[in-house]
Amino acid sequence: MSKGKMISSRVYQGNPAFNYLPDGDKYFLAGEKPKYKFNVIGTGIMGQEHIRVTMLEGRATVNGVFDPNEGSVAGAKAQFAQYSDDELKVHQSLEAAVMDPDVDGLIIATPNYTHIDLVKEAIKSGKHILLEKPIATNLQDAYTIYEIGEEYPAVFQIGLQYRYKPTYREVINQVKGGSGSAVGDIKSISILEHRIPFLDKVDQWNKFSEFSGDTLVEKCCHYFDLLNLFAGARPVDVYASGGQAVNFVGYEYDGKTSDILDNALVIVNYENGVRASFNLCMFAPFFYEELILCGDEGHLKAWEKEDFLPQSSAGTGIDINRGDSQPSLRITPNYPARIQATGHHGATFMEHIDFVNNIDGIETPTATALEGLWSIAVASAAQESIKTGQVVKINDHLAANNINI
Ligand SMILES: NC(=O)c1ccc[n+]([C@@H]2O[C@H](COP(=O)([O-])OP(=O)(O)OC[C@H]3O[C@@H](n4cnc5c(N)ncnc54)[C@H](O)[C@@H]3O)[C@@H](O)[C@H]2O)c1
Repeated sequence: MSKGKMISSRVYQGNPAFNYLPDGDKYFLAGEKPKYKFNVIGTGIMGQEHIRVTMLEGRATVNGVFDPNEGSVAGAKAQFAQYSDDELKVHQSLEAAVMDPDVDGLIIATPNYTHIDLVKEAIKSGKHILLEKPIATNLQDAYTIYEIGEEYPAVFQIGLQYRYKPTYREVINQVKGGSGSAVGDIKSISILEHRIPFLDKVDQWNKFSEFSGDTLVEKCCHYFDLLNLFAGARPVDVYASGGQAVNFVGYEYDGKTSDILDNALVIVNYENGVRASFNLCMFAPFFYEELILCGDEGHLKAWEKEDFLPQSSAGTGIDINRGDSQPSLRITPNYPARIQATGHHGATFMEHIDFVNNIDGIETPTATALEGLWSIAVASAAQESIKTGQVVKINDHLAANNINI
């Protein structure tokens, strides 16, 4: 049932206080019946978030899962049971999950190094695919996945969902909105992420560059995607400095020693003259992200923080200062609490709205395979620069990997 432009009632729909109403009396509170079914492949922390938001979003349901780790399957079942009395199908093989005739879409939320092989298997199904970021651990595999995504006849969406965090989404509204940019032409961009160390994972894959692609690819592809988005041009060169100063130094697992970056400074120059920087510290006792856009008509600073303190101030904010030319603004962007509580400040939920919209053929701003590739091109160039101490020209970096885009 479509309610046209009526404001969404998803926040109320799942509220058991309204269970007393006969179904025929629900209109504002009636959700759309699920019309699609998804299988989730990989049900660790992120796969479970996908289960949660699929069920809450409501236009699709989760049919089954595949994950070789028993604890992850148990977690998936527990998530699913919060939203449905149906039984969650547990597939015994990847092939069975991919070829399940009952499902329309596949969500791939496995460790980064598995993405290339899983995608090659998943596309045999022709089903819609939501692939977690980073698309791959290295530029060559990322290019292969980009080529696959470009040619794929169904939806091929990349999980670069930071674009949907309330703060960044509102910044996008402010600088790309119909009434013109809030800061004029953007000339420089700065992003900073200071946060706690990487969490534990199944097989601790994110402590080793071989499995994760290293920190700038694994985690910071989100921020390079945002830099690319706000710059609105092709990156030309990248210079970076970084290292493993504190986290997991000497940490051994399965005979291997952790080798991932925990701090870095990155500078990116874009073809249109925009300058950008990224600053990472992963040994902070909180989460703090900051974005600054300097334009020729104004200055924007956006932030998001979670400091675990009892008297926390607002967790998000945007300040736009425009001198005496136009009003300045102070904004506190948020989604409804029930949606934000589902994870990543509600961004994954919003990403799922657009996954279903993409399946329905509605145009959305979800990240494409090409944008997934560009985020890795910048991240891997930064990692190359850290290794060599040299500026990395993006065209040389692409050519060294036999890539022509
Ligand atoms: N979009 C985001 O903001 C975001 C946030 C966190 C993680 N991620 C991405 O999601 C993916 C998963 O990360 P996570 O944090 O959930 O890791 P995790 O270790 O918590 O979960 C990964 C799961 O995949 C399973 N798995 C491993 N190999 C598999 C295979 N071949 N087939 C099926 N299942 C397999 C593991 O048993 C585990 O349960 C990664 O690509 C990560 O970068 C994205």
